[in-house]
Order: sequence, then structure tokens, then C-alpha cells
Amino acid sequence: MKDLSLHILDIVENSVAASADKIEIRISEDTKKDLLSVRIIDNGIGMDKETRQKALDPFYTSKTVRRFGFGLSLLSEATKAANGQFSVQSEKGKGTKIKADFQSSHIDRKPLGDIGQTIITLVMGNPEIDLIYVHKKNGHKYSLDTRKIKAQLKDVPINSPSGIRMIREDLKKDAI
Ligand SMILES: Nc1ncnc2c1ncn2[C@@H]1O[C@H](COP(=O)(O)OP(=O)(O)O)[C@@H](O)[C@H]1O
Ligand SMILES: [Mg+2]
Repeated sequence: MKDLSLHILDIVENSVAASADKIEIRISEDTKKDLLSVRIIDNGIGMDKETRQKALDPFYTSKTVRRFGFGLSLLSEATKAANGQFSVQSEKGKGTKIKADFQSSHIDRKPLGDIGQTIITLVMGNPEIDLIYVHKKNGHKYSLDTRKIKAQLKDVPINSPSGIRMIREDLKKDAI
């Protein structure tokens, strides 16, 4: 995967598979600290200790048909290649928090890529899920909460053309 937005898309698919109905994507860029951090937090079924340990093994999956798998181990490798850190916190029945930190200036740090497109793809495919996206960069903050957009849209589905248009318009404010 050539950029982090594609890793994020893949990691969020795990949350969807884990029956989460609320998923947070938090990205924070701090130039002074030379740090890029990504958090993906869900309220899905979570993992017990054994599954959590196995989850980082590229040959473990709870899926019966593998699509393009290896999601967690690939993101973990991407952090290590950029002098970063990766961790999985999860509790059965509560949810999961994935942390991926990167040394921002590292030559092997993958670019963030088109995170807006990742958000749109996720909303189109999972209109029933509440998605919260927060992007901080050096004191600036952008956030998008599909619960607020759904409230504005009233009975219009969030994955309808006008719903997606509203999200695209809002995402323009994330021009950092
Ligand atoms: N957010 C999550 N909630 C619950 N289980 C998860 C979550 N993310 C990963 N897992 C578990 O870890 C396994 C490995 O995930 P991953 O590396 O993305 O590979 P794959 O999705 O192809 O199985 C999953 O099959 C699942 O059992
Ligand atoms: Mg996966």
C-alpha cells in the first residue's frame, strides 16, 4: 500500500467486520515533535488476549476468505520503517484502539495520501456507521462527524449523491 490513507481504509474495514457502529479516525501532525500519529478507535466486538497476540501475525486471520489481509502487520511494518511505534489495545466486548506513530520526516514514512477519499469510500460503503474523523496539524483542527451531517440531511441518506456532496464540501476545509 503506497500511502497511509489506504492503510487506514483497510484498518477501518476490520472495525466494520467487528460490527462496530462508531469508528473514530484521528490523525495528528506535529512538525516540532516530528511526529505523525494515527489512531483508529472502534466499539466493535474487540479481541481477547489470544486473538490480540495473533492479530499481528500476518498468517493469522479470522476471515474464511482472505481479501487482501495482512492489514495490521503491514501497518505495523510501515511504522517501524519510519522509526515509529505501533500498538493494539483491545478488549473483548468493548472495542479496539489501533495506534500508529511515525517519525514524520523519515525518508521511508509513507505519505498520508488522499484521506478525504478514504472517508468518502467508508461513508458510501457503510452509511449506517457513525464515523468521526479528526485531523490536527500544528494547532489547526478539522473534524467531521457523520452524526452531525445525518442530522442536517434529515431523511436524505448520507450515501445519496447530496449526502456525499455535503461531505465532499466539508472535507475541503481539511486542506492542510
Ligand atoms: N478492530 C478489530 N476488532 C476486532 N478484531 C480485529 C480488529 N482488527 C483486527 N482484528 C482481528 O485481527 C485479525 C487480523 O486482522 P488483519 O491483520 O487486518 O487481517 P485480516 O483482516 O485479513 O484478517 C482479524 O482477522 C481479526 O480477527
Ligand atoms: Mg484486515
